[in-house]
Amino acid sequence: MQARVVVAYHSGYGHTAKQAEAVAAGAGKVEDTDVRLVSITELNDELWQTLAEADAIIFGTPTCRGGASAAFRTFVEATSAVWGDNLQWKNKIGAGFTNSGNMAGGKLHTLVDIALFAAQHGMVWVGLAEYGGWNTSTGSSEDINRLGSWLGAMSQSNNDESPKVTPLRQRPAHGGDAGPQGGRDDPGLPAWPCRVRTRNRPDLTWHGPRRYGDRWPVPHWPSPA
Ligand SMILES: Cc1cc2nc3c(=O)[nH]c(=O)nc-3n(C[C@H](O)[C@H](O)[C@H](O)COP(=O)(O)O)c2cc1C
Repeated sequence: MQARVVVAYHSGYGHTAKQAEAVAAGAGKVEDTDVRLVSITELNDELWQTLAEADAIIFGTPTCRGGASAAFRTFVEATSAVWGDNLQWKNKIGAGFTNSGNMAGGKLHTLVDIALFAAQHGMVWVGLAEYGGWNTSTGSSEDINRLGSWLGAMSQSNNDESPKVTPLRQRPAHGGDAGPQGGRDDPGLPAWPCRVRTRNRPDLTWHGPRRYGDRWPVPHWPSPA
């Protein structure tokens, strides 16, 4: 049986829309998965029906003034009818992502907001199973999960760049090759599992137990002088 995944997002200027497309593309790579990408701007019957039929809903919003956008919050409040109808979304899988201009910028608060919203609905939250990247002397902004997020996928887009010119770079761990993060397009990487590219740096000294299984060694922590 096909799993039905709905990526439900708001985007004012198109950056989060790009992230949403990438999340949907990634989810679509999973076998037997039907993925629908829906904007939550129009609160109509079709939207509610699509969400009602979903097995999983992945929510996305830009971070604005340190939280979810006003349009997303309007959607959240409008779900009160679903919530009040004997928790219609109970036991659906829930996940979230957000994009904003700053590296941090309040994105964690946005994800907490979405996760709490999902919890109110009785949904089962799924975060990122990824180590944080860009957190060592040899790490870089090319690392997977460079913003070090676990509650949901975070991406960053430059405020002075249109989403049309902002190439996709880092994969959010919900799948896809994506995130409007300014940089080179690298669609050739496998969708899952996500790996930190710096593992291939020949100048790194690797130590320690193989906590990632047998796939690659991890550096000694903290890094030796
Ligand atoms: C009203 C407003 C408030 C914003 N507040 C924040 C913020 O708190 N933190 C941040 O990092 N970026 C903030 N930004 C930048 C947006 O997150 C950024 O432009 C984002 O790409 C918008 O997503 P969108 O293109 O999908 O609408 C704000 C932008 C606007 C318009």
